[in-house]
Amino acid sequence: MARVFSGIQPSGGMHLGNLLGALRSWVAYQHEHDAVYCVVDLHALTTAPDPGELRDNTVAAATMLFSAGIDPDRSTLFVQSALSEHAELAWMLECTVGFGELRRMTQFKDKSDRSEFVSAGLFAYPALQASDILLYDTDLVPVGDDQRQHVELCRDIAERFNRRYGDTFTMPAHAIPETGARVMDLQNPGDKMSKSLESSGTVGVLEEPESVTRKFKRAVTDSDNEVRYDPATKPGVSNLLGILASSTGRSPRAVAGDYTRYGPLKADTADAVNELLAPIRERYAELSSDPGEITRLLSTGADKAREVAAATLERARDNAGLIPRSPT
Ligand code: AMP
Ligand code: TRP
Repeated sequence: MARVFSGIQPSGGMHLGNLLGALRSWVAYQHEHDAVYCVVDLHALTTAPDPGELRDNTVAAATMLFSAGIDPDRSTLFVQSALSEHAELAWMLECTVGFGELRRMTQFKDKSDRSEFVSAGLFAYPALQASDILLYDTDLVPVGDDQRQHVELCRDIAERFNRRYGDTFTMPAHAIPETGARVMDLQNPGDKMSKSLESSGTVGVLEEPESVTRKFKRAVTDSDNEVRYDPATKPGVSNLLGILASSTGRSPRAVAGDYTRYGPLKADTADAVNELLAPIRERYAELSSDPGEITRLLSTGADKAREVAAATLERARDNAGLIPRSPT
């Protein structure tokens, strides 16, 4: 069975972009693939979050994944820092990737432009991500469009390591959904939707239905009053069409044919999104009443993950010439 691996940062609440661009396909993959999913708390450390918040957000992210439909009997879900293998292989991969390659990453450029303090960890972030992926002999990495460059770099790293030290890693490919891969901000449709949930351009997965409806009603469109799917010249309207299409399993162009005015398009998009979010919100409320159960599920997940990760790390260590930890 082909293996799927993906990760999500525990940084605040999840938004509609995370759900449509990533989580929904994660849930779908677990039925026909060996699915491994990870809350990447070590990646979150790159931007020095408050420790209490990081702790809460890690449990909240796992709760959200289970609520969105990740089934602990079908998938392996765990927290990255529970396995020391991730950080250990990341070091070996940092020694495999070039400074220039890391410097070209657009996510690094964006994040470092916006922060006062730029950690070495933020720079090396894609090597840790490559470690996550390669430890599990991953075939497919379902992510939103913004992660395409990181997965491509992971392939380059795997190839270089295999060339230098002999066949060690499986070559992964990204799997980017056709709709929902780029959910844009409702107020600034030139920017992707991101985790600033106070913003009226971002829709939180746990947001109240009235608030969701209000945000769609106020979504920025344009003044030519024509419903047409054309992300380049009509980003606001195309984003609404993309969200409605992705929420209902249709194509944005087909959806566009049903509308002549912006008002009904906004109202129907809000309704479709609320319908999608309602059961997730309900399950989240149920599951959060028992955080002990979440940590128990995560610990079982970590045990399953370790079996695969430890063997891959051992192979990488041996091929690179690190002597065994203990005599064999
Ligand atoms: P992050 O929230 O950055 O940890 O991203 C988690 C997953 O959600 C990744 O697979 C991203 O590609 C995806 N994602 C984040 N923002 C968006 C967005 N605005 N549209 C589509 N996918 C997204
Ligand atoms: N960098 C990814 C993001 O911001 C999260 C991530 C970490 C990830 N490790 C991964 C995604 C491994 C896929 C595979 O969304």
